[in-house]
Amino acid sequence: MRPLEWSEGELKLIDQRLLPGKVLWVSCRRSQEVAARISDMTVRGAPAIGLAAAYGLVLASQEADDAALKGESRRRFLQAARKELAATRPTAVNLFWALERCGAAIEAGAETGALLELAKRLHEEDVAGNRRMGEDGAKLITPGCGVLTHCNAGALATGGWGTGLSPIFVAHERGVKFHVFVDETRPRLQGARLTAFELAQAGVPHTLICDNMAASLMRAGKIQVALTGADRIAANGDVANKIGTYSVAVNVKHHGLRLAVLAPKSTFDLSIASGAQIPIEERSQDEVTQWGEERICPAETKAFNPGFDVTPAELISAIFTDRGPISPVNPAEVARVMKG
Ligand code: MRU
Repeated sequence: MRPLEWSEGELKLIDQRLLPGKVLWVSCRRSQEVAARISDMTVRGAPAIGLAAAYGLVLASQEADDAALKGESRRRFLQAARKELAATRPTAVNLFWALERCGAAIEAGAETGALLELAKRLHEEDVAGNRRMGEDGAKLITPGCGVLTHCNAGALATGGWGTGLSPIFVAHERGVKFHVFVDETRPRLQGARLTAFELAQAGVPHTLICDNMAASLMRAGKIQVALTGADRIAANGDVANKIGTYSVAVNVKHHGLRLAVLAPKSTFDLSIASGAQIPIEERSQDEVTQWGEERICPAETKAFNPGFDVTPAELISAIFTDRGPISPVNPAEVARVMKG
């Protein structure tokens, strides 16, 4: 499954807000529409956001062609599109990575055709890299083991196939028998709506749990390994991921289990020394104070809704990347693997 596709001059996206009830593809013809679709989370997940932005710049270039913009006016138009795409979501660094790569190509004079080739290449590299990290990570999934997931780091969050879910798909393909416990992932329920959907489609045995149930399952010996994706990884190996990942990590450590993070090179931000410098998106209070349209707390109650948290490197057993595994997770190992 791929959550985004380029077809006949348009970017098509699965509207992830409607899953699992409805599989609806929406089309974007302008870069502004792509920015709106990233902001409203029609498309979400760090690598998928980055790829959508890359295709967004292709659309901007097409718009410039249609308006016969040349030279400086074309450059200014594309720069404005880039700025708008960059302003959508602050935490996942893949967005800025993709805009940087495509922006550099534009500065070097790339026309629409070359930009489209670049976006498609980034897309294919993402899918291939996901498969590679999953093959390395699948060694953690042994017969009879229990795996915990948080948020959605599957095909829907990427160009296709997935990061955090990749070892699960590989191990399942190899015929290993194991069970997945899916954190529902409050407040937007990416676990319940998206991860459970992907596992059901693939025929992977799984059980949905509320986020606050994971520790008791660990204590009961039902979980041996937790697998997550990442939105931004600092040079020291600190990982920003969906809010609640830090709690998973603390619980994993307390019970002597393993937490593995899976992410491509495009998720690493080596310009920052530690997770303390990662900007954390703060989202609408309504996501916490309401259940759908219904308010679940008094009208005067305020909510706090950070979309992400930072897990310190020392709580992570390994980071599996498209360049190979990082373990132990420390600045020297991060630098060594990312050089490759
Ligand atoms: O807010 P979202 O749904 O975009 O957050 C997504 C996550 O936190 C994922 O776990 C992360 O992007 C890694 S996915 C490959």
